[in-house]
Amino acid sequence: MSKPKVFSTHPLFEAPRKILDEHFEVDYWSRPERPPRAELLRRVADKEALVCLLTEKINDELLAAAPKLRIVANVAVGFDNIDVPACTRRKVVASNTPGVLDETTADFAWTLLMAIARRVLEGDQLVRSGQWTGWNLDQLCGGDVWGKTLGLLGFGRIGRAVARRTRGFQMRVIYNDAVRAPAEVEKELNVEFLERDQVLAEADFISVHVPLLPETRHLISAPQLARMKRTAYLINTSRGPVVDEAALLAALEAGQIAGAALDVHEKEPQVHPGLMKRADVILTPHIASASVETRTRMATIAAENVIAVFAGRRPPTALNPEVLGTK
Ligand code: GLV
Repeated sequence: MSKPKVFSTHPLFEAPRKILDEHFEVDYWSRPERPPRAELLRRVADKEALVCLLTEKINDELLAAAPKLRIVANVAVGFDNIDVPACTRRKVVASNTPGVLDETTADFAWTLLMAIARRVLEGDQLVRSGQWTGWNLDQLCGGDVWGKTLGLLGFGRIGRAVARRTRGFQMRVIYNDAVRAPAEVEKELNVEFLERDQVLAEADFISVHVPLLPETRHLISAPQLARMKRTAYLINTSRGPVVDEAALLAALEAGQIAGAALDVHEKEPQVHPGLMKRADVILTPHIASASVETRTRMATIAAENVIAVFAGRRPPTALNPEVLGTK
């Protein structure tokens, strides 16, 4: 019997690739750039499963081009690239990769937080430029991290993993989320729930951990930036459109906040040219979950979701499991 056909928009890592190859006839996109839309639509035409990245828009157009499709397995926890209701209407399972990238992403939020507060990139540049003339008392003084207040916007798995890391830094942690965490979680992590405006006003660091939804688009815009302390920093490892970059640039130019570190950008891969010019901004290319171990785990979960659908099992991390009962 011939194996079901799968299109993977990335060659993946060895372990998940091996799992997929065992069960399916897999067509891998192996070029370094992302597949052009027309090519993607052409390659999915005869496929029963699609393994994709967050750079691929999965919408009615794509689903119409792939009439045999049974599952779209996104190798990412965020799934704002997928029109899940459209998948559900066509009885296509959509899956993501929750749970395996929380700690790695939290590590990176901390990397950015420390790097922006302590001016690591400016220091590196000074040394490499050959302009460093030696130790000086007021050279590249940043802000302290220890003993400060961390404000988390979004307190799901990743926000909580970020909070857990504050212990050694003797920080106060305040948060806001659409849903307040259970009292035992607040107690265990030593965090306080406050209204969003209060979090913005009291924090020395604001770290954003919300999914991109219509209600979180530009969650951080001019009014929110105006509430922050002049000495505060903004860190974003969630999704770019959660921060209004034009408003952020204006706030930095006006000295309303001390700096920002952004791993995600409003119009990736474009980066706001005004932000690029600033020394008080760190810009990284959406790599918060990019450890070999975590990215391998993410791709492996995607493969396991595909396998489950064809084995008649419940995919471990389906976004619309109701589709399965109706097939
Ligand atoms: C990465 O941004 C992800 O959503 O997994």
